[in-house]
Amino acid sequence: MNVYDSEKIVSDLAFYGYEKTESVESADLVVLNTCTIREKAEQKAFSFLGRLTKLKQKKSHLIVAVGGCVAQQEGEKLVKRAPVVDIVFGTHAIDRLPQHIKQIEDHKHRVIDVKISESIYEKDFHKKTRENEVVTTFVTIMQGCENYCTYCVVPYVRGKEMSRQPDRIIEEIKHLVNEGVREVTLLGQNVNSYGIKQGFCSFAQLLERINVIDGLMRIRFTTSHPKDLSVKLMNAFVSCEKLCNHIHLPVQSGSDRILKLMNRRYNRDDYLEKVTSLRKIQPDISISTDIIVGFPGETSEDFAQTLDLIREVGYDSLFAFKYSDRPKVPSRHLSGKISENEKTLRLQKVLALQEETTLKKNRALAGSIQQVLVEGLSKKQKGKENQNHDIQWTGRTQSNIVVNFSFTSNNDITFDQILTGRIVGVRIEKAYPHSLWGKSVYIEPENQGLKGDECYAA
Ligand code: 5AD
Ligand code: SF4
Repeated sequence: MNVYDSEKIVSDLAFYGYEKTESVESADLVVLNTCTIREKAEQKAFSFLGRLTKLKQKKSHLIVAVGGCVAQQEGEKLVKRAPVVDIVFGTHAIDRLPQHIKQIEDHKHRVIDVKISESIYEKDFHKKTRENEVVTTFVTIMQGCENYCTYCVVPYVRGKEMSRQPDRIIEEIKHLVNEGVREVTLLGQNVNSYGIKQGFCSFAQLLERINVIDGLMRIRFTTSHPKDLSVKLMNAFVSCEKLCNHIHLPVQSGSDRILKLMNRRYNRDDYLEKVTSLRKIQPDISISTDIIVGFPGETSEDFAQTLDLIREVGYDSLFAFKYSDRPKVPSRHLSGKISENEKTLRLQKVLALQEETTLKKNRALAGSIQQVLVEGLSKKQKGKENQNHDIQWTGRTQSNIVVNFSFTSNNDITFDQILTGRIVGVRIEKAYPHSLWGKSVYIEPENQGLKGDECYAA
């Protein structure tokens, strides 16, 4: 969500004549978009502000704006802690940033804007929204959250749940496709409740509308709260051919006792039943999850149940986090806090277990041909485009695994524009814990404006 918001900030400011700089040191305006989901993220923001304090001592006209969740959470207090800051703009004030900057330029009065609004901001599409062509991007379809998981700061910093109008979402995606985007990831804290409050269409219906947008090749979404995962949405994986075969379904813990303390409103069996139904409908669906280790009161037995659930589901990948106390959240008042050491040990156990599974699953893909949406040249290749004809590219499978592959051209078709944004068949030769490597075998003709012999074969 922060990436999406940052893109919006960049495009708004470009409209007012601002340009990105190569380094922070050469900037006249620094906008810091912050996250407060865990304490570490917040600390990072403050340490960066420390760096800016030194910079401003040398460059007094520097304007510093801090936005996002730390800004929303701290408001006025942020300026007391970091006097270098000129503008504090909260999660609902992004569209007002340009006017706040103007005010600082004209009057030098500090601005604190952390008002939470009752309506959702809408993006203006009349201007070019991005500087570089990208193949894949995020689209926010809703903001806020009212689930109040006891550990989570989101409901306090992002406000009440609000969905964007379906027509505006479709309009935005069409606009992005015109700019070269081929894959969108729809964002919401709980996409399953999309539109319900406002009486718009359901999320499954929204997916059907997006599925027929010409030129769009892939759709992803995140996140789906397990308690609300509906059969309708499960069926969308079959009915919408552009919907990627992957779901992120955060479980957080495998212990019923902890799930209750977290206020997740499902238990282990409910979760496992949903996974079974999903796999019945779409047998090879890839499933990822989020895990919190060391929630207050988590015993070694609770933790063993989490490991056990990870084994039972056999996730394709996961994100694991050490529990972190956040301001205002109810779990900070729970007893039985777990030591940092123990949290680190538990985190390592989760990651080691998953690495084993992921590697096993990735190895099983060796020899298969994967449809890869090409995002561009691989990091290794950048800058060496003209040196040989065996070019390394990078992209992702439907299940969201990074694939680096070589494309040996038998003519001069070797450059970026040729493959970027296209779906290529790649025969997988090597599997690593976090990526695959292979060689291109053909380029899918569908959906990419290429016909017959215009499809390149290597
Ligand atoms: N501590 C640790 N992890 C957290 N998450 C949310 N709040 C906290 C917290 N206080 C994790 C959850 C969520 C992901 C985005 O961040 O796993 O799914
Ligand atoms: Fe936080 Fe729970 Fe809302 Fe997710 S569903 S954003 S974990 S409160």
